[in-house]
Amino acid sequence: MSKTITIRRPDDWHLHLRDGAMLRAVLPETARHFARAIIMPNLVPPVVTGTQADAYRDRIMDALPEGMAFEPLMTLYLTEETDPDDVAAAQASGLIRAVKLYPAGATTNSASGVKNFDKVRPVLERMAEIGLPLCMHGEVTDHSVDIFDREAVFIDRVLDPIRRATPGLRVVMEHVTTSDAVDYVKSAPEDLAATITTHHLIINRNHILVGGIKPHYYCLPVAKRESHRLALRAAATSGDARFFLGTDSAPHVDALKEHACGCAGCFTATNTMSILAHVFEEEGALDRLEGFTSLHGPGYYRLPVNEGRITLTRGTDPVDYPAKIDGGDGPVTVFDPGFPLYWKVTA
Ligand code: DOR
Ligand code: ZN
Repeated sequence: MSKTITIRRPDDWHLHLRDGAMLRAVLPETARHFARAIIMPNLVPPVVTGTQADAYRDRIMDALPEGMAFEPLMTLYLTEETDPDDVAAAQASGLIRAVKLYPAGATTNSASGVKNFDKVRPVLERMAEIGLPLCMHGEVTDHSVDIFDREAVFIDRVLDPIRRATPGLRVVMEHVTTSDAVDYVKSAPEDLAATITTHHLIINRNHILVGGIKPHYYCLPVAKRESHRLALRAAATSGDARFFLGTDSAPHVDALKEHACGCAGCFTATNTMSILAHVFEEEGALDRLEGFTSLHGPGYYRLPVNEGRITLTRGTDPVDYPAKIDGGDGPVTVFDPGFPLYWKVTA
């Protein structure tokens, strides 16, 4: 028996679209199902100023195939030189919806990120004044901290002190991977929210390391142990409006993933909605899927919800997704959840 659900068109509150050939290859994969996405600014060089964000937005719109609708929600990459006036002007004009904080060295293209958090105080204070959200990559970069502990340590050493020092600052803890982060978000007032990726609801660290190294499951923050994955599933399916979808779909060509020093990132744009319907059904929470993908994010970002709808249908035969898409400069592997998917976006 097939089963269907209809929900408001979803948004992706954390997405890597890249540039050039890769942008043209991956944008339709997101625009097919999603109305809007928060666009990560970690290009090379990064999108630091309002002028750069405006030009990047134009390149995204130029890459959108005829007949597809999509609204990129732009962000600026926070550096120690970021000018608070430029940030405020980019928000006032409606160009940007958030600023992204990468601790320097934490992940892909984060070299221009923040080393000394005191240096960005004036920007954070201005953002608190104007209500502009700060999206944080929440991992410390201190080499003495174990990679599996970097998120939990970040909360104590960086996130909590910044929030205390900057009352009113609205923070999205991006791609949370631990029960520590889930608990911290739940304990905080509503100016703090968190995105959860599709892949962190599916994989734990065994998927990356047991039976041979699986580079396509390597991302940052790295997947943690099973108890953390279960905490993320509970948070995502709880109906709590502080948790919403940010896929962190992050394409890299296979040659750079299957490499002696493989890049971090899982490419989930293509099959995210099928995977999420599967997860929410497993958790007996299909009625909460719409909140996670389509309602909580706009609520936090103070944007209207989408008027359009999508319908998902669960068929009796598995959905046939491509194992790879053509990334322009080489193949990009689509995230493999490791089990068949029966839900499909049908309208
Ligand atoms: O896995 C990741 N990939 N995590 C990030 O924070 C960055 C992203 C990328 O840009 O490839
Ligand atoms: Zn990301």
